[in-house]
Amino acid sequence: MELLGKKILLGISGGIAAYKCCELVRLYKKSGAEVKVIMTPSALNFVSPVTLSALSGNEVMINMFPEVDPNRSETVETKTWHIYTGMWADVFVIAPATANTIAKIVHGISDNFLTATVLSARSPVLISPAMDEDMYLNEATSKNVSALKELGYWVIEPESGELASGLSGIGRLPEPETIYQHTLKLLSGAKKDLEGKKILITAGPTYEPIDDVRFLGNHSSGKMGFSLAMAAAQRGADVTLVTGPTMLKTPRNVTRIDINTAEEMFNAVKDNLKAKDVVIMSAAVADYKPKSIVQGKIKKTAGNMTIETEKTVDILEYLGKNKSEYKLVGFALETENEIDYAKGKIEKKNLDMIVVNNPKVDGAGFKTDTNVITIIDNKGSQTEYPKMSKFDAAGNILDKILTL
Ligand SMILES: Cc1cc2nc3c(=O)[nH]c(=O)nc-3n(C[C@H](O)[C@H](O)[C@H](O)COP(=O)(O)O)c2cc1C
Repeated sequence: MELLGKKILLGISGGIAAYKCCELVRLYKKSGAEVKVIMTPSALNFVSPVTLSALSGNEVMINMFPEVDPNRSETVETKTWHIYTGMWADVFVIAPATANTIAKIVHGISDNFLTATVLSARSPVLISPAMDEDMYLNEATSKNVSALKELGYWVIEPESGELASGLSGIGRLPEPETIYQHTLKLLSGAKKDLEGKKILITAGPTYEPIDDVRFLGNHSSGKMGFSLAMAAAQRGADVTLVTGPTMLKTPRNVTRIDINTAEEMFNAVKDNLKAKDVVIMSAAVADYKPKSIVQGKIKKTAGNMTIETEKTVDILEYLGKNKSEYKLVGFALETENEIDYAKGKIEKKNLDMIVVNNPKVDGAGFKTDTNVITIIDNKGSQTEYPKMSKFDAAGNILDKILTL
């Protein structure tokens, strides 16, 4: 009875794997949970609400609005059930989640009882995509599944194997027992594995002023650092994010400090270093800055302009030299010999771990939503990862940090 007293809301959308949910409801009930089921109208084509109502012991919710027969004169009573249902649940599991329902959730569309309830849910939402491989690998679906994670939904990766279409590939709904185990984990807070950890993350570029309107900068978007901050906060960490100029929104539950220059970043890092368990330097800090800043705007003249520069403060070096309790993670972005360079940097800067990428590799680099990373630690272990969303890359980086 490991789910005794837990309230599970199960959303079923219109995929062929909907039939597996009957077994899932049985598993939840056997473990002592109270189960309520919501079905999309499409799901009715795949499994009967009568079966699900009998198995769950509750009415199945399908329609947002009551049926109104204009030929009868009864009064109609309706309530905002989607709000109360969302508030009722300890966890909201959506399995199978169709490509369509996932797309709607990502965009906040609430045109049926299931999608409206997602918007009002206060509980964690666990989503199990299931569809044909071509639908799953379609770029739109791929982006939507990444976006689900970025929005804070928990996603169960689909499995590979024989599909309902007769083809085989990725997209299968995991077996009910697997979905049950994910539900259990989420309810017992297993994913809050960074709870109690204080993490300082830097992100974005720095802008080094030349005059009042120009600066020396770089193409960093800040996406990698923001993904790290978001993923760490979701896993329970207390996150402080020091960021250079970027258009990105502050992730939920993250303390953000905005800076412009390398000097300002250095000061913000130093001021917030106390009691940190991990420091991740993913910002693209300028190595050089103009020696002096011209007041006003430098006028265009006939000749060339020379800007004399000097080195900026080396924040990573400072953090390595003054390392106390915290684990120090650096980033290396190089266009050639990146692995050798990164290995040297671990030693030179006294790092515990380094994340390496090469912006020339397809899917890696500054402005993309994806990255292709290699992680090397100070014991010499090296792990290469395929192209994945920056949010997923962040998850892998945090997993590795936990092994340091
Ligand atoms: C036989 C059949 C099987 C289907 N299986 C899936 C599926 O496994 N996954 C999926 O995303 N869509 C599947 N679809 C398409 C969805 O049913 C369709 O996109 C529908 O609009 C989904 O609506 P909903 O998301 O509101 O439930 C299937 C359609 C048919 C006819």
